[in-house]
Amino acid sequence: MSERLLDAKKNALEEEVEISLRPQYLNEYIGQESLKSNLRVFMGAALHRGETLDHVLIYGPPGLGKTTLAYVIANEMKGKIRVINGPSIERTGDLAAILADLEPGDILFIDEIHRLPRVVEEVLYSAMEDFQLSILLPRDGSSKTINLTLAPFTLIGATTRAGDLSAPLRSRFGIVEKINFYNEKEIAGIITRTSGVLKTPISEKATSLIAKRSRGTPRIANRLFRRVRDFANYARKNDISQEDALKALDALKVDCLGLDDVDIRYLTAIIERFHGGPVGLEAVASAIGEEIMNLEDVYEPYLLQIGLINRTPRGRVVSEKAYAHLKKNHQKKLF
Ligand SMILES: Nc1ncnc2c1ncn2[C@@H]1O[C@H](COP(=O)(O)OP(=O)(O)O)[C@@H](O)[C@H]1O
Ligand SMILES: [Mg+2]
Repeated sequence: MSERLLDAKKNALEEEVEISLRPQYLNEYIGQESLKSNLRVFMGAALHRGETLDHVLIYGPPGLGKTTLAYVIANEMKGKIRVINGPSIERTGDLAAILADLEPGDILFIDEIHRLPRVVEEVLYSAMEDFQLSILLPRDGSSKTINLTLAPFTLIGATTRAGDLSAPLRSRFGIVEKINFYNEKEIAGIITRTSGVLKTPISEKATSLIAKRSRGTPRIANRLFRRVRDFANYARKNDISQEDALKALDALKVDCLGLDDVDIRYLTAIIERFHGGPVGLEAVASAIGEEIMNLEDVYEPYLLQIGLINRTPRGRVVSEKAYAHLKKNHQKKLF
């Protein structure tokens, strides 16, 4: 089997496990307390009135539980969920067909909604506002507008980049909620839950070790858990001890703050090549050969959160904490 095929197979397997680890209802969804208490009110009120829930926009960095929350909302509202991905919908007709097919109370989940093409996005405006669809159909050289009344539905949009959403689209969401990084205790709770689902007991110390290195991100916590489990199982054990966890995390080169190779190269480049900043993201990205979007969406949010970098109008600046963490001395500025 080729390397890529193996990779794809492994990813499919990982995805399967990830799905099995998803909480189904709000009371299993750990953390995000204020978001949960808001949602409880909005969902409870809609159920009481016998109406559909208002449209929900969930935004925040990858791996924090946006998709999971969309499924949780569908379960709580007892609605059928239909899942589509922003960039995969290319033509207005594709979205119109999906909308026309919805039944009352259905949930339409659009992941990466900021990547929906603008012409497609415009179809959503009247659909969201008053469940009306008007589409222009070409017909013998001229065109004809078709108006269609849709079933009342709830749109849930998820995005890592709320700022990239157009104003008309954003304003049509009645509920807008940000998902934040989780604290260590919450991540430890997620690891404990995962250990239960996967029937692999883990010591408290090993849990806290993984929690510290998970960047406040459930997806990473679950991934690290599975890799640490591999190390324990390889040693013919079913329980995970602190030693297993330490050995695995060191082998995976995840440092004590959870930083990986890309974070380290990013910080080192700013320190060594740009005197600690300020420097534009484009310059850093090209210095380390990473994509700008990837750095901005996946890496920077956590580095900002733990105060290793700051964003200034003139660019990115690394903090004293970053120097201390990397044990670097300030490079003398030439100018
Ligand atoms: N609040 C939570 N409680 C427990 N597990 C969670 C929570 N949020 C996310 N997870 C776990 O993390 C994984 C990644 O979450 P996901 O919803 O796919 O993130 P996103 O869509 O924001 O990228 C899920 O498979 C789930 O197991
Ligand atoms: Mg997702």
